[in-house]
Amino acid sequence: VIPAIVPFRIKKKSIEILNQRLLPHTVDWVSCKSMKDVFVSIREMHVRGAPAIGIVAAYGYVFGALKLMKKNFSPKLDEVTALKEYLDSARPTAVNLMWATTRMEQIFTKLLAEKADMGAIKETLFLEAAAIHREDEESCSRMSHAGADYIASKWPGKKLRILTHCNTGALATGGIGTALGVIRILHQRGLVEVIYADETRPYLQGARLTAYELKVEKIPMYLIADSMAGFLMKQGKVDLVITGADRITKRGDVANKIGTFPLSVLAKEHGIPFYVAAPESTFDREMEHGDSIPIEERPAYEVLEIQGKKVAPDVPVLNYSFDVTPAENIEAIFHDGSDKVFRSAKL
Ligand code: MRU
Repeated sequence: VIPAIVPFRIKKKSIEILNQRLLPHTVDWVSCKSMKDVFVSIREMHVRGAPAIGIVAAYGYVFGALKLMKKNFSPKLDEVTALKEYLDSARPTAVNLMWATTRMEQIFTKLLAEKADMGAIKETLFLEAAAIHREDEESCSRMSHAGADYIASKWPGKKLRILTHCNTGALATGGIGTALGVIRILHQRGLVEVIYADETRPYLQGARLTAYELKVEKIPMYLIADSMAGFLMKQGKVDLVITGADRITKRGDVANKIGTFPLSVLAKEHGIPFYVAAPESTFDREMEHGDSIPIEERPAYEVLEIQGKKVAPDVPVLNYSFDVTPAENIEAIFHDGSDKVFRSAKL
């Protein structure tokens, strides 16, 4: 599957980021030529989705490292550490960001220790960012097929009614997507009756981005208000729920877009299986429990306004961007590990 849309384009001296804030009605590319430009694009959510953030941050790291080298050919350790800390602070919950900057920092530190010249540093760092990008594309494909195989064997020959949340497609990754990747492959195999896409307040990733991707791919869908999921489940209209993830802990707790946790509770109540699809870069191998995941709080205007138009009076707002679904609510996580294609979170 070739994604019809990509979240960024790599140019010789810049990275162009598709401004997802303006989709689907306006296609606007933001040109990033520095680490700061990339930081702003991640923080402002021109680019979003855990894997996509990680890839873009890796390219941003290249800009930052080269600028540092031009200033001081033998940078101090704290100057190197500051690069990663700066990029990591753009968004705290998706661990793919820290995973990618850690990988870039390790290479950069090694090159500095080897006293590599500027040309070698530039080339090696760029190749590492490109490798992170390519690996994500491959892992999307692997996990999507693994998930589709698993689901197809559980409901042989059945056309499925699938509920999903947020945007987990080509716009959120370096490939065909995570949960939406599984959906794409199921659709190719003729196994999708309909997708229910939550609109995903407040940023509307479902209404603006998932609806757009499904429309481009001609996958049958209904866009629904987030609050409708329970009623659909009660009527027996949902076979399964599948979402992506921003961080998965050792015990299998999953941070994902706000609204995912209540969906998992509703699914449990109605005996509907709940699945997650995510690449290895989303697994936090150091963190045990979901309670330790840092949860991003975003500005009030995202709730008070819709695309610049005020919809509420000026009142205090709580805007947690993610919630945590406990492992017990998840039947399986589709991933791309070399050991197994999926693992039960209840193990
Ligand atoms: O705030 P966002 O849009 O970056 O949040 C994205 C999500 O929560 C996705 O579901 C998650 O990153 C998985 S995307 C492959």
